[in-house]
Amino acid sequence: MQTMIDLIDKKLDEYLPIIYPEDIFKAMKYTVTLPGKRLRPVMCLETTRMLGGDMNKAIPTACAIEMLHAQSLIHDDLPCMDNDDFRRGNPSNHKVFGEANAVLAGDALLTFAPQLIIEKSELSPETVLKLVHEFTKWGGAYALIAGQVVDIESEKGKFVKSPEETLQFIHNNKTGALFKLSMRTGAIIANADAEVMKEIDRFAQNFGLAFQIYDDIMDEISSFEELGKTVGKDKNSGKLTYASLYGLEEAKNKFSSHINICYDIIEKYDSEIISGIINKLSSRLTGV
Ligand code: IPE
Ligand code: IPE
Ligand code: MG
Ligand code: MG
Ligand code: MG
Repeated sequence: MQTMIDLIDKKLDEYLPIIYPEDIFKAMKYTVTLPGKRLRPVMCLETTRMLGGDMNKAIPTACAIEMLHAQSLIHDDLPCMDNDDFRRGNPSNHKVFGEANAVLAGDALLTFAPQLIIEKSELSPETVLKLVHEFTKWGGAYALIAGQVVDIESEKGKFVKSPEETLQFIHNNKTGALFKLSMRTGAIIANADAEVMKEIDRFAQNFGLAFQIYDDIMDEISSFEELGKTVGKDKNSGKLTYASLYGLEEAKNKFSSHINICYDIIEKYDSEIISGIINKLSSRLTGV
């Protein structure tokens, strides 16, 4: 996994040179290159590899997804959203570059990412079109943004559906969407058939939910040193989370039931990397 992360980091650095006007390129590069876990690009590359595709062909897409993820973090931290001063162990983007540049850096990453897929992928035009379609679908108002909107609304006590349904909607969209994007694009590059794509979708759906439940729990039980971001924030701002709705123990049970589905699916594929990721999350939470 470390070899893959090194490759992703090298490419992210290469794809983001600092040119005039430097302020915007510096702000874009800042959050992207801070030490994140790189789960989404790793899962994109690894899905291509485990399904028999050429992992190198997935590099521009994997990097584009990390840029989209960084964009979502930059905007998520803004004072008008979660108002977080720290990200990846460092001051948040708007704390370093100011709010205007942080908004623009997010916008710029969101638009540069598909540009990168189009310009750098050595794939057929049909495949590139499919990749960009996935990118826009999962990154936009039908998925990630929908999740963020309902997350913010729920904080203000505005509910259209039941709290349980609302919470699942938020997590599937604000978090699950990017894992779906990562694995689906990886599978597309490997020319996966419809049957395999169905399993990949089911894995990503359950992994995404489990991952956000994990994040919600960690917000309550972890430390700034471990997470690199402010802890206890969800509770203080009255956010609707798995921990707040179900309590820590039941949230852990729900995490385990989703992660067990992931284990069952990934067993059929030979992926030490993805099994390693789910093992790591699981052992951190349940101490197994
Ligand atoms: C943070 O994601 C946002 C959530 C969906 C919870 P990560 O925990 O993957 O953040 P980085 O990339 O490691 O910083
Ligand atoms: C993560 O939600 C979703 C996105 C950033 C899109 P959180 O608000 O819980 O993420 P953190 O905890 O700030 O990383
Ligand atoms: Mg948020
Ligand atoms: Mg947040
Ligand atoms: Mg969180």
